[in-house]
Amino acid sequence: MTQHDRHVRTPAYDPDGYARTLAAFEENSPDFVATRALDDLRTREYGRLDRTGQIYLDYTGGGLYADSQVREHMELLAANVYGNPHSNNPTSLASTDLVDRARAAVFEFFNASPDEYAVIFTANASGALKLVGESYPFAPGSHYLLTYDNHNSVNGIREFARSRGAAVTYLPVQMPDMRLDPDRLIEHLDMRRPGGDNLFSYPAQSNFSGVQHSLTWIEEAQERGWDVLLDSAAFAPTNRLDLGRWKPDFVPLSFYKMFGYPTGVGALIARRQALKKLRRPWFAGGTITIASVQGEGWHYLIDGEAGFEDGTVNYLMLPGVEIGLRHLAAIGLDTIHTRVMSLTGWLLEQLHELRHSNGALVVRIFGPLDLVERGATIALNFLDPDGEPVDFRHTERLAAAANISLRTGCFCNPGAGEIAHEIPQDLMAGCFKSDTPVSYAELYEWLKRNGGKTASTVRISLGVASSFADVYRFMHFAQQFQDRGAGDYGPLPALDPHAASEPDAA
Ligand SMILES: Cc1ncc(COP(=O)(O)O)c(C=O)c1O
Repeated sequence: MTQHDRHVRTPAYDPDGYARTLAAFEENSPDFVATRALDDLRTREYGRLDRTGQIYLDYTGGGLYADSQVREHMELLAANVYGNPHSNNPTSLASTDLVDRARAAVFEFFNASPDEYAVIFTANASGALKLVGESYPFAPGSHYLLTYDNHNSVNGIREFARSRGAAVTYLPVQMPDMRLDPDRLIEHLDMRRPGGDNLFSYPAQSNFSGVQHSLTWIEEAQERGWDVLLDSAAFAPTNRLDLGRWKPDFVPLSFYKMFGYPTGVGALIARRQALKKLRRPWFAGGTITIASVQGEGWHYLIDGEAGFEDGTVNYLMLPGVEIGLRHLAAIGLDTIHTRVMSLTGWLLEQLHELRHSNGALVVRIFGPLDLVERGATIALNFLDPDGEPVDFRHTERLAAAANISLRTGCFCNPGAGEIAHEIPQDLMAGCFKSDTPVSYAELYEWLKRNGGKTASTVRISLGVASSFADVYRFMHFAQQFQDRGAGDYGPLPALDPHAASEPDAA
């Protein structure tokens, strides 16, 4: 806390106020009350949050693991001997069994038929996306269509598309709710290039605004001849993705976002039919039936998942996936969903109602203000009484002082940020003239200086262990911004001009 912070009115945390507010909330939210078992779960399995006084509001960045997930996994590793899979010796077969069980657990969790879908283990969602991007048969005459609010790991596929002569089209989301115009989408889907291979990518839930786009677009696009990549990294942790009902061609995921542990494992769940059209640009140990060094290009790729799992899979971590999925299933994804959405509803209402003495908003929310087709991720900026955004460095500093883990920056989602902050193309163009990389700090300063724009947003997100106390504490934190002018925050820490990339990707 700086000297300046001490001079500003910070409402004291009032335990009676908390009890009253919780009682009022519960009275109006029978759905939330029905999820009370999650409060016990938090004490039992996520007790480290309260022991260390952490207010964790970054589940879209990374989920949290239950203590028992780690214990069960460690006990398994400590009790058995596991060798490299894919051989016939006993320790190898034991590992192959772990891999098979993890795969079966993913099929079951997502209600995906193994006849229709393949589960390919990757390092993370980005690894899954790269598998699609590098192998999709982009060519002149084909088309890559994607929404503005995609994560950069989906945006990056455009580089494969462009370099192979495919057309690339971005569909903008629109303010204020950051959704797509459905008529415009259909117009673009109707413009499929006949004869070419056409890929449409969108997030089931935006990791920026929390908007959930319609899953009916999958069929709309496929009926018109598109392959569909549904980025489910931000959706899957608190929403049911039923692959018995919805049939996207490619689904990338990161498991740490769903249940916190282990990191380093994700999956590409892909329709077997769609996998057949992918052309891998190389082969690796484990992906071929046979290869020879004598003939040019002599190798045969294995059919199905093995052909896409380069080298040795992360076999010691894969039991953690089975354990994590079982953990979520035992709690019930619907229960988690109900809880986080009740808390999100309360937050949206409270944040929107918070005002400066002059009546101006304290918080600007980017995205839907109600719970219709949205998830438990809220993008916002704190505003001063003149309506100007508070610099993210102040927000970060104050949040850290309150032990709140939130996220600032662009969340690897530049398109959503450009729409939210109305940053026009010609202004952005100014940052892409240099031959040497422009840092995020330079971008931030450039936008501020040249158009009075900000490139930074604040994001809070809820998950399995979120409680009413977390959101109440956040509201208490948000009250600090009331009636606080730009000059009341003290000096700004300098941005690191040499920071190579945007902070707070994810
Ligand atoms: C919507 C979305 N897609 C993809 C990713 C990439 O995930 P990872 O960094 O685990 O590869 C993220 C990460 O935040 C995300 O939120």
